[in-house]
Amino acid sequence: MVMKATALAHPNIAFVKYWGFRDEHDRIPANGSISMNIGCLSTKTAVEYSQSFKEDRFVLNGEAVTGRGLFRVQQFLNRIRQMAQKAVFAYVESENNFPVGTGVASSASGFAALALAGTAALGLALSEDQLSSLARFGSGSACRSIPGGFVEWQTEARTGKSFAHSIAPANHWKLVDCIVVLSEDHKSVGSEDGMRTAGTSPLQQARVMDSERRLDLCRTAILTRDFDTLAKVTELDSNMMHAVMMTSEPPLFYWHPQSLEIMKAVKEWQKDGLEVTYTLDAGPNVHVIATQTDVGEVLVRLNQFPAVIDILKGVPAGPARLLSSGYQA
Ligand code: PMV
Repeated sequence: MVMKATALAHPNIAFVKYWGFRDEHDRIPANGSISMNIGCLSTKTAVEYSQSFKEDRFVLNGEAVTGRGLFRVQQFLNRIRQMAQKAVFAYVESENNFPVGTGVASSASGFAALALAGTAALGLALSEDQLSSLARFGSGSACRSIPGGFVEWQTEARTGKSFAHSIAPANHWKLVDCIVVLSEDHKSVGSEDGMRTAGTSPLQQARVMDSERRLDLCRTAILTRDFDTLAKVTELDSNMMHAVMMTSEPPLFYWHPQSLEIMKAVKEWQKDGLEVTYTLDAGPNVHVIATQTDVGEVLVRLNQFPAVIDILKGVPAGPARLLSSGYQA
């Protein structure tokens, strides 16, 4: 019996972000979110199950993972094993094509690839909606790395379920995400722990209440390729999420002084007529997003900052995909 599959997925960057749960147990986000997959970055994950394995093992970028990292993967595998009604241990081998320590989170691409490879290896053929729904239990944003291109994750209130779907394909709009790496440190408070405190901020309720409006603006801006509106809503949404983080108990300060410097520079560049915007996740690195026309000039300007360690560039990318599947009952 062969139970093996390999899948590839891209991370994503959200224009309207998810931060906090409506229902943590069922991983229902407090608000919907919209993102695009990032083409230059990917995670490739091979999953093999065998009756002869005595335990689950997880190797990431050539190194065995133990402790909390392994536990998260095991919890996720348990969900898959339960779906397939099979009690077998797994060997999971995962590789990111981006260097470790760029401060770029790999949990979205990692759990999207694991959802696809882990289910295919047990002979489960899930629909895209089902896969996305499953992936959110590994890491919320992973559900947005299952469909391709520009993706919206709706809350359960509107759909009755919680999964993400594509609102436009990858080739719809050639935006370029320039990930400005300012720190290679592992973040001190990960998003999973960080967002548990979101409800302690008096600003969270206002952020969530206004989210439908931002989602409508963002979705329409993407569909009509309206960069100015996309820039306005993207920056507002990032600023709102960070305002919540900074006013939570305990407060979370993810920005570095240089992050703010770059955000302010982007605002100046917009006055020069460049189509450019910024957004930050739970870390100090700035995603500077530009149109294909203006990205060259934006890169020249970004490279003038002495604090910049690296700049990774990515255009919108397709869905998570199976590279090989060798399930034979
Ligand atoms: O995927 P998680 O559960 O680690 O959360 C990530 C949340 C943010 O990246 C900060 C925002 C988002 O919507 O991607």
